[in-house]
Amino acid sequence: MDTVRIKDLPKHVGQQVLVNGWIYNKRTSGKLQFPIIRDGSGYLQCVVSKKEVSPESWDASDRATQESTVRVIGKVVEEARAQGGVEMHVETFELPSLSEPFPISPKEHGTDFLMNHRHLWLRSSKQHAVLRVRNEIEKGCRDFFYDRDFVLIDSPILTANAAEGTSTLFETDYFGEKAYLSQSGQLYLEPAAAAFGKVYCFGPTFRAEKSKTRRHLMEFWMIEPEVAFLEFEGLQELAEEFVEYLVRRALDRCKEELKTLERDVTKLENVKRPFPRITYRDAIELLTGKGMDVKFGDDFGGDEETVIANSFDRPVMISRYPTVIKAFYMQPDPKDPDVVLGLDMIAPEGYGEIIGGSQRIHDHDLLLQRIKEHKLPVEAFQWYLDVRKYGTFPHSGFGMGIERMVAWVSGVPHLRETIPYPRMLNRIYP
Ligand code: 4AD
Ligand code: MG
Repeated sequence: MDTVRIKDLPKHVGQQVLVNGWIYNKRTSGKLQFPIIRDGSGYLQCVVSKKEVSPESWDASDRATQESTVRVIGKVVEEARAQGGVEMHVETFELPSLSEPFPISPKEHGTDFLMNHRHLWLRSSKQHAVLRVRNEIEKGCRDFFYDRDFVLIDSPILTANAAEGTSTLFETDYFGEKAYLSQSGQLYLEPAAAAFGKVYCFGPTFRAEKSKTRRHLMEFWMIEPEVAFLEFEGLQELAEEFVEYLVRRALDRCKEELKTLERDVTKLENVKRPFPRITYRDAIELLTGKGMDVKFGDDFGGDEETVIANSFDRPVMISRYPTVIKAFYMQPDPKDPDVVLGLDMIAPEGYGEIIGGSQRIHDHDLLLQRIKEHKLPVEAFQWYLDVRKYGTFPHSGFGMGIERMVAWVSGVPHLRETIPYPRMLNRIYP
């Protein structure tokens, strides 16, 4: 008999099927038992009646503890009150593996305890739902760019270059030379944009962020498009089209998950283009107007971002940051040379910056000057400078952190729940 996945059971009403899974929960009432079985695709309520099954099946069902592996055969019956609209009337109940007492029960556990048991915590309904949202958003990212004729360019993890400042580099030894874990694939995408026009990369990136906040991980996944001949205006349009698409996709395809997470989806329904756009100078005005002590040249932290985000009902794009606080490669604004054509997109509801991007400097000499000003080793950047020597061209791109996006869409406040195995300050287990 073929195994049927729980989510497919509504197609088998009236039939006898086999389900493999684990005990999620169990209720007993005299001569009836109601185990709930999960198989990763859904939850199935079963009815085991002492009168209708063999003594072996009854005994197996009776002994099955939370997370025991079970193999059940029975008839699929419509039941409007059950999750998925069906339940199973069990005919045979087998217990291939009895679970030891499972450390995670529906009672409250501390975060540290849960993080130490992350490998088991993944089975809990909320964690399961968040990671399914992540799965959908990752597929959405790939579809979005593939459908728009972008070419996927996998960028290296081991690199000799600092893309996003030298203070957050993870250093490693590369046969006697210094190498770093990649902070961003961007530098490798720019040459590829000259080869393919529209490219993107999607992979793990690393930052030794010595701060302990709910928005920072040491290892996170970033999706980065890079487009030849795209200038700043077009970059902003691409960013908002992308975010609108991903939110819509999660709303359409993760209804059950968002329900499990008790997400207020009305807030996500608002996420329609055009998104508000303000400049950094406008943002400073907005913040000082609300009594915050910030001036031109200050970088925004989580508090500033939240105050700005709360002034709008959808993501807001802040552009034209002071040159001194942004990365070396950002193109100066021709109309206002103290600022660069860079943008950050801030998510609503306090989820912070989800996208960072810019138009890139395409003038060789200016880029060289910036590399020197930032005290970066010119030798290591020769190949990157080559893009400006052999047919230079205006180009732009951005990076979106998947975990920040998933946190916002799922409504979970801490990034640690949005990645299967988070790497945080003081945590690399499990
Ligand atoms: O703003 P960032 O540093 O931009 C870049 O790395 C550019 N090179 C991207 C590009 O233009 N191709 O990072 C981009 C995004 C942030 O907006 C945020 O969503 C995420 O990456 N991010 C982090 N997510 C989790 N933990 C961290 N420590 C993060 N640092 C950045
Ligand atoms: Mg940034």
